Amino acid sequence: MKVLDLQSFEEYRSRLTTQASEWNILDEMCRITISRFYRDWAVFDLLKDEILPGLAFKARLENRPLRCWSAGCASGEEPYTLSIIWQLVLSEKFTETDFEIIATDIDENLLERAKKGCYQLGSLKGLPKDWLTKAFSVKEDRYCIHSGFGDRITWMQQDIRSTTPAGKFGMLLCRNLVATYFEPELQLAIFNQLKSVLRPGGILILGCHEKLPEGLQGFNSKVEKLNIYERTGDPHISP
Ligand SMILES: C[S@@+](CC[C@H](N)C(=O)[O-])C[C@H]1O[C@@H](n2cnc3c(N)ncnc32)[C@H](O)[C@@H]1O
Repeated sequence: MKVLDLQSFEEYRSRLTTQASEWNILDEMCRITISRFYRDWAVFDLLKDEILPGLAFKARLENRPLRCWSAGCASGEEPYTLSIIWQLVLSEKFTETDFEIIATDIDENLLERAKKGCYQLGSLKGLPKDWLTKAFSVKEDRYCIHSGFGDRITWMQQDIRSTTPAGKFGMLLCRNLVATYFEPELQLAIFNQLKSVLRPGGILILGCHEKLPEGLQGFNSKVEKLNIYERTGDPHISP
C-alpha cells in the first residue's frame, strides 16, 4: 500500500477491482517458498522403504514407467530428494523400471534455482550424511547436486489452480500448498483435478499439517498420521 501511495484497505480493495494486474502482485507476495531436503523424515523414510518399492513393483509388472509429480516444488528440494532416494537406494532393485519426476511450480525464479541445484547447508540437514557426500559437491559456500540427479526430473512452470501436467501419475506430492493456502472451495476443485491424473491405487501425499477438503471423494487414508492417501478404483482398469 505504501508503494501505491494508498491510505486504507478500502482504497487497496478498490485498486484490486479496477486494476486486474494488481492481483498478480498480491498473489506473488502471498507465496511462501520455504522447503528442505527430506522434509518430514518419517514421510520420506516410508517412501523409501515401502511406498516407492510397492509402486515400482507394480509399474514393473505392468511394464510402464513409474511417474511422480512434485507439485509446488519450490527450489527443487522435494523432487531432488525423490531422485536421490531412487538413485542411491532403489534403482539397483528396479533396473528395468524408469522413474520419472515432473516438478512444477508457479514461480519461474524458483525453478531456475532448482535447475542450478545449489543450496545452503541449512536446507540439506535432513539428508542422511553419506547421501550428502554421494550426491553433492561443495562449491564455494554452497552444496551443488551432481547433474545426474536432475536427469530424471522435468521442470515445468504451472499454476496448479488451472493446469496439471499431461499423463497419469503413480504418486503425487502436494505438500504445504493447496490444503494450506487456498480456500476450501478451490481446494476441492484442485484435488478433484489431481485425482484425475492419479492412477487408481496411486498415492497422494500432503504436508504433515494438512488434510483433504471435506466432500472430496475417491481417496482412502493409507497412513493417517502422515497424511498419505490412496486413490480408490480398480488398478487393473485404466481410468
Ligand atoms: C511452502 S512451499 C512448499 C514446497 C514443498 N512442496 C515442500 O513441502 O517443502 C509452496 C510452494 O508452492 C508454490 N506455489 C504457490 N502457489 C502456487 C500455484 N498456484 N501453483 C503452483 N505452485 C504454487 C510456491 O511458489 C512454493 O514454491
